[in-house]
Amino acid sequence: MRNQPHAIKLALLGTLSKGGFHSGEELGASLGVSRAAISKHIKGIQEWGVDVHRVQGKGYQLAQPMQLLDENTLKHTIDTKFALVPVIESTNQYILDNSSELESGFVCLAEYQSKGRGRRGRQWISPFGSNLYLSMYWQLDAGMAAAMGLSLVVGVALAESLEQLGVPGVKLKWPNDLYHDDKKLAGILVEMSGQAGAAANLVIGVGLNLSMAETVDGISQPWTSLSNITAKPVDRNQLAALLVKTLNTTLQDYESFGMGEFVARWNRLDNYLGRKVKLLIGNKSVEGVARGIDKQGAVLLETEQGTQSFIGGEISLRNNE
Ligand code: BTN
Repeated sequence: MRNQPHAIKLALLGTLSKGGFHSGEELGASLGVSRAAISKHIKGIQEWGVDVHRVQGKGYQLAQPMQLLDENTLKHTIDTKFALVPVIESTNQYILDNSSELESGFVCLAEYQSKGRGRRGRQWISPFGSNLYLSMYWQLDAGMAAAMGLSLVVGVALAESLEQLGVPGVKLKWPNDLYHDDKKLAGILVEMSGQAGAAANLVIGVGLNLSMAETVDGISQPWTSLSNITAKPVDRNQLAALLVKTLNTTLQDYESFGMGEFVARWNRLDNYLGRKVKLLIGNKSVEGVARGIDKQGAVLLETEQGTQSFIGGEISLRNNE
């Protein structure tokens, strides 16, 4: 077991996630290491963003219950090939590094990302076991020109599946953030791993907050988690499988039918429809009222010069009320 990186920490988390207190002595004996080694590994687990308490005379306990992703359960519910890599730099990077050997639809899931990344070069803070981090590899025959539409369609599909699960008030912020109550609930990062002929090889990464701690350093925008929105406990394995299925069907639909009815579906969920917003484009900004998107996936703004459309990776939308 010790030859596998992080094996002891993962085994400790396996035990702690069952609940209750566990003494250093008990944990050490079951894993064949000293109490001092357990204490060192617990520090490592805390560095992964897990809140572990130690009470004199009782031992260690997780501050919050944790349900781990389970490979066996996922095998029964995920149709496509996947890799569950509990501790990783970034699931997007995993796909980028391995894309030459992967088939379209392959998924990588993780419990913790040490270098999770977001759009516009930002970091995606990814504490262990509390949220979902997954990436899907997709060979898009329509090529790069269709990638912008694809990223919007993924946002629509994820928001709709949360709605179907009974999560109220999930919205979209252009281009593809999931929002709730003006706070970010999930982010999507589409990256390209290369172009083979006309086709584009894409990585679609999704980070969905399930129970992010109240105070986390390093997040630059207001955020929320499913646990703040719905009292219903979320089964992480079921939700992960649902997201994978949703991504897969939506990407196939997009390849077959294009943006089609997705424009109206995106606009129904627009967090800013009819609201005053500001677009930051490099060091320029444009103010106006948000009017949804068009079938190219551009954001529409009603400005003093009339309705204008804006598209491109460097645009950022801000509330301007
Ligand atoms: C954003 O900035 O809104 C996009 C965030 C995307 C985060 C996800 S988490 C899984 C995948 N792996 C990464 O490194 N990033 C994406």
